[in-house]
Amino acid sequence: MTISAAIFGKEAYGVGQRPDERRHPHAVYHNPSLAIMNVTMKLLMVAGARPNFMKVAPLLKAAEDYNSARNNGAPNLECRLVHTGQHYDAQMSSVFFRELGIPEPDINLEVGSETHAIQTANVMLKFETVCTDYKPDWVGVVGDVNSTMACTLVAAKCGIRVAHVEAGLRSFDRTMPEEINRIVTDAVADLLLTPSSDADENLKKEGIPAGRIRLVGNVMIDSVMANLPQSRESLILGTLGVAEKKFAYVTLHRPSNVDNQANLSAIMAELCNLSNTLPVVFPMHPRTRKMLTAFHIDGASSPRFQIIDPVGYHDSLCLAEKARLVLTDSGGLQEETTFFQTPCLTLRPNTERPVTITLGSNRLTDLNRLHSDLAEGLNATSRRGKIPPLWDGRAGERCLTAMLEAYAS
Ligand code: UD1
Repeated sequence: MTISAAIFGKEAYGVGQRPDERRHPHAVYHNPSLAIMNVTMKLLMVAGARPNFMKVAPLLKAAEDYNSARNNGAPNLECRLVHTGQHYDAQMSSVFFRELGIPEPDINLEVGSETHAIQTANVMLKFETVCTDYKPDWVGVVGDVNSTMACTLVAAKCGIRVAHVEAGLRSFDRTMPEEINRIVTDAVADLLLTPSSDADENLKKEGIPAGRIRLVGNVMIDSVMANLPQSRESLILGTLGVAEKKFAYVTLHRPSNVDNQANLSAIMAELCNLSNTLPVVFPMHPRTRKMLTAFHIDGASSPRFQIIDPVGYHDSLCLAEKARLVLTDSGGLQEETTFFQTPCLTLRPNTERPVTITLGSNRLTDLNRLHSDLAEGLNATSRRGKIPPLWDGRAGERCLTAMLEAYAS
């Protein structure tokens, strides 16, 4: 029997069983590495920005399931959540906590927006105190935002083990701030939990020993699957007056697209043109809204080109599932559209998520090709692509199992 079976009462790689359906409730007594561990493993999870929240939710749920199904003799798990406050607007943060059922964070560092250096430094200064006070056994970080890298550096220097969820993704484009965050985080973290086998390959090529890498699947998809009932109840299509498969869903916020006046003008002109044929729904990230104003670009909404405030998680999933096509520069939407098999155009020269192209429904585009790619997308009437292996709703559980196994060894 593996440790995962002893912990959850089943193999973490199996399907269709919940932890309360354990077949071997006393198996842990027969596992020598766990039987001696009548102790508490302290896990400090970190979330900072919008795309982090749907990644921590499955781990928090797995921790809760573990504790309620835990056998006597297996280590107790104490899980705490730190919100760095990198994102703080209700529509960028609290709506996700509410919809994903994430408990109030135990600590909010309230760092807010700043330059990269100041934001990173502020997270580090405040997170160090949390680490020295709480003394966790593990710090769990997710994704690739500034908070991810900042907390990893602090924990590693405090001698605390770090698990990176969504490790190994590489765009090979160091002009992206997230790429720097990924490289630094993976170089320092102890346990690299990867969403797809390309990530394992990237890490091995960087000289990271195989023993630090675990292919666990995609935690984003855990959250998608857990929230499908609610997203399918969303009223957003009716509210916006658009019909299933008869609109484009757009999200753009990367500095390379929105911080450059000529690029942002060209994108908005192209979307305006598209809206003559297919209604466009564009929930706008605060960064993009700020840049539209700064560049005096027309950001007025119309019934066929609706520029709206950022939407919550369930509405966003509903839009991603029901759109004719998605245009984005978000990592998360590349994965969600792959899961829904909705045609997706990613307005970037590269992606750190190549499996969304090789298997999924995603294609890269650029400003020169955008017009023809959108025109082609108008003809996309059917779903396309396949769902990658281990994008099955059980990745959070596998992450936790990997941490518990490393703790026991
Ligand atoms: C950050 C992440 C990016 C992720 C994105 C998702 C980094 C380097 N970037 O980019 O990887 O894809 O989050 O949204 O960590 N703002 C608000 N309210 C908020 C948060 C931000 O108005 O709640 C505005 C501020 O003007 C801020 C700007 O948005 O200056 C950018 O926010 P910031 O967290 O610096 O980066 P993002 O562009 O959101």
